[in-house]
Amino acid sequence: MEIPEKFATLGLTYDDVLLLPGYSDLAPSDIDTTSKLTREISLRVPLISAAMDTVTESRMAIAMARQGGIGVLHRNLSIEDQAYQVDLVKRTQTGIISNPVTIGPDATLEQLDKLAGEYRISGFPVVDVDRKLIGIITNRDLRFTPVAEWATTKVNEVMTSDDLITGPADISREEATKLLRQHKRERLPLVDADGRITGLITVKDFVKSEQFPDASKDGQGRLLVGAAIGYFGDAWERATTLIDAGVDVLVADTAHGNVRMLIDMVRRLKSDPATKNVQVIGGNVATKEGAQSFVDAGADAVKVGVGPGSICTTRVVTGVGVPQISAVYEASLACRPAGVPVIADGGLRYSGEIGKAIVAGADSVMLGSMLAGCEETPGDTVLINGKQFKAYRGMGSMGAMSSRGKKSFSKDRYFQAEVTDDDMIVPEGVEGQVAYKGSLATVAHQLTGGLHQTMFYVGARTVPELQDKGRFMRITSASLKESHPHDIQVTAEAPNYHL
Ligand code: XMP
Repeated sequence: MEIPEKFATLGLTYDDVLLLPGYSDLAPSDIDTTSKLTREISLRVPLISAAMDTVTESRMAIAMARQGGIGVLHRNLSIEDQAYQVDLVKRTQTGIISNPVTIGPDATLEQLDKLAGEYRISGFPVVDVDRKLIGIITNRDLRFTPVAEWATTKVNEVMTSDDLITGPADISREEATKLLRQHKRERLPLVDADGRITGLITVKDFVKSEQFPDASKDGQGRLLVGAAIGYFGDAWERATTLIDAGVDVLVADTAHGNVRMLIDMVRRLKSDPATKNVQVIGGNVATKEGAQSFVDAGADAVKVGVGPGSICTTRVVTGVGVPQISAVYEASLACRPAGVPVIADGGLRYSGEIGKAIVAGADSVMLGSMLAGCEETPGDTVLINGKQFKAYRGMGSMGAMSSRGKKSFSKDRYFQAEVTDDDMIVPEGVEGQVAYKGSLATVAHQLTGGLHQTMFYVGARTVPELQDKGRFMRITSASLKESHPHDIQVTAEAPNYHL
């Protein structure tokens, strides 16, 4: 009897390696962090916010896309709620709103106020049953009606209907700016030849599009957004509903992606006429063989990571996993020859690890704990001993998988969809909190700034050049100690280095 070899090669992770400095004749302005998210989508900044219920809902997805990255909406939501989140992002465009939220003349001011809160907008075109523009109503029009009368006052009693300034559906940016300026208006509804609403331009959005030059946008100028799906139960309905809502990328993943039903799901998504045009990311895998399964199924990117996450206990609960640098490298052996981008998901703690992931073979990174403390993540900050924190939990934690009065939609990520009794759940993650970090813009600035510096130190102008030129040196625990501040009591934390 032949006993098979049991010990695969040594696995390495972020702390086991450092990048070698290389000759550099670059100016900071030469460096370009643009990278591929999927076969067809590039991002100016290769950062993705994790599909976790304490990290990415619409507010975070909007903030990520504005910074040049992308957010993946978590799926611990009903199909309708997740699709609604997609809709919120797609409407927070940076140019022309192609499908503006409208209101009818008979709606009450109370209904209008509710809609304004849901969509975080302050004015609406008013349309009749044929979607013909008959007025416009903004916060300003509400000011003279006491709140006590909002339940009984109708939109058509206070809207502005005289002297409406509109533009044609195909108006240019220059023409629109001229009209808005000339008439001192903040909103310009766009209408077709029959007076039906086709779009809306607001001054605020024009200013924003200048404010976020790196924003990740689709062909119509709307922000890009991803959403997570699984393979179990109504996953197909979830996928098609999200596509109808305008999602750009579907992330079909489970904690262990190399399973037949998930791979079949990716194959079906990429071949069915109703879904094949949407970009599909498959995951998570941690070996060359796992990555190859998704490449063969037609995935547009492969997500890598089994157990590296800060909140993950998969490796200790199951004894299974691959240290992340090795996992990314292994997956890239299958993906790079096929031109399929790789996403390094989980386990990153410092900006320097983005460059390490890229040199190992990744094209972008997905972050949970590094972003969970941002202002834009779901949930409130809590004050503990004078310091602010935000909750952060694994999607395989008891909190995310147990019902606790609310249906959990994330159990199938951990293959426990059919477990109905909370006591029978086997969690693969923990619940905790992370320090509050302020706005995503400041956090993203530090992360991209760190990646810029990595590229300068290695001498790589572009991300593909970093992948090719970058070389690792394996280090010892003594070297790791040397890498961090040592022999000093740190008295002030840096914005990119927390104790
Ligand atoms: P970081 O380290 O960025 O990791 O906080 C985020 C990634 O961790 C994965 N994830 C989990 N993995 N149990 C796991 O084993 C969990 O409960 C869990 N929740 C999230 C996921 O890939 C995420 O992007």
